[in-house]
Amino acid sequence: MTTSGFIMLSAQLKRLKGVQVFILRSALAGILLVSFTSQAQMAKNANKFVGNITTRNAVRSDFLTWWNQITPENESKWATVEGTRDVMNWGGVDNVKNFAETNKIPWKFHTLVWGSQYPGWITGLSQADQLAEINEWFDAAHTRYPNVNMIDVVNEAYEANGGKHAPPPFKAALGGTGTSGYDWIANSFKMARQRWPKAILIYNDYNIIEWANEVNWTPTMINAIKKAGAPVDAIGAQAHDAYRIAPATLKSNIDKLAATGLPVFITEFDIPDPTDASQLTTMQNVFPVFWNHPKVVGITYWGYLVGATWKNGTGLLNTNGTERPALTWLKNYIASNPNPPNDFPNFVKGGVGIVPRSSSTPQGPVTLKGPGLMEIFDLQGRMINSLHVNDRTINASMMPSEGSYVVKLNGKFAGIFAKVR
Ligand code: XIL
Repeated sequence: MTTSGFIMLSAQLKRLKGVQVFILRSALAGILLVSFTSQAQMAKNANKFVGNITTRNAVRSDFLTWWNQITPENESKWATVEGTRDVMNWGGVDNVKNFAETNKIPWKFHTLVWGSQYPGWITGLSQADQLAEINEWFDAAHTRYPNVNMIDVVNEAYEANGGKHAPPPFKAALGGTGTSGYDWIANSFKMARQRWPKAILIYNDYNIIEWANEVNWTPTMINAIKKAGAPVDAIGAQAHDAYRIAPATLKSNIDKLAATGLPVFITEFDIPDPTDASQLTTMQNVFPVFWNHPKVVGITYWGYLVGATWKNGTGLLNTNGTERPALTWLKNYIASNPNPPNDFPNFVKGGVGIVPRSSSTPQGPVTLKGPGLMEIFDLQGRMINSLHVNDRTINASMMPSEGSYVVKLNGKFAGIFAKVR
């Protein structure tokens, strides 16, 4: 399924601390072997992903025709995995993980802490036992998936819709509101980071780019948990109601989330509309807002087979295998706009089209979004520097002398950098 290719030469120049750093991504010395999947995922050559989910607990065989990121729709929810206490059912999650790894696309664990689809037996336990069970759940997920790319650590913490979305009943066991006001959320992230030093840890929520209360609450909460030391890496905006919101409003609401400094994922976008023409129009209005927002690093559409999605009318693929117009348009749009602005070009790893791309456009000091391990090698392959970084910019002082260096972040190739006078 895979062929090989080289990232072609590009040289970008930036003056840093009085020293010029060339960023060379080239076929130099044949070092930069990158694997490309041969299927025609829509965003394969783009600099953000466009993903989708499992369909009725399975990965469809046509998945890679369009998508290059995958989230299990229900398989990695706590109630699905551990409906019976201490009996873990990982089959569905294993399928997703194996599919993603085989095809070199990133996948996301959805979700660790959520006030819905948690096992019913947890509510009858004492707080101490609840916390012990939460730790067991985190441990079991980590033992099985130590290398998962992304995790929705906490889902839907904002209380809305008369409690339809609400914190879990085991919130107190995680620390309750505490001094930050959101200790249970902060602690969930700390517990996740202890297990997964490299995964992208996401706060994911429902109408946080749609409805005013949620839009205002989310950055307040994120800033509070960051202040309390929570290692949160990104915000996931589900966007289930984006179809009803004016594009300009969506854009400015994404700006508000991004003001926290974190990248944003659009995690569960869908357009419930059985009429082809109006679904298409909505797609044309809304998707470009996400695609062209420099703080958005990836977009996941929530289901694609007509009749097999969470909400009626959201499907993009007819049961006879033909694309609904919104999908055909999406494919063409991405093909003609493969290089949208992305302020976090190295953020998501694990898939082609997500590693830095060659470009003749100068771009700023390269930020390797952490936290993670940055390793710098000389062209003979000797490691000359290794440091733990958190949202750090590569600068010339990390390189001992003039010359070219290969930089890896969390074991993945991130670029060739040359230090020159
Ligand atoms: C939905 C699934 O799509 C349904 O199959 C399931 O019955 C209920 O959950 N927010 C989330 C998702 O974070 O997990 C939800 O998924 C949709 C809303």
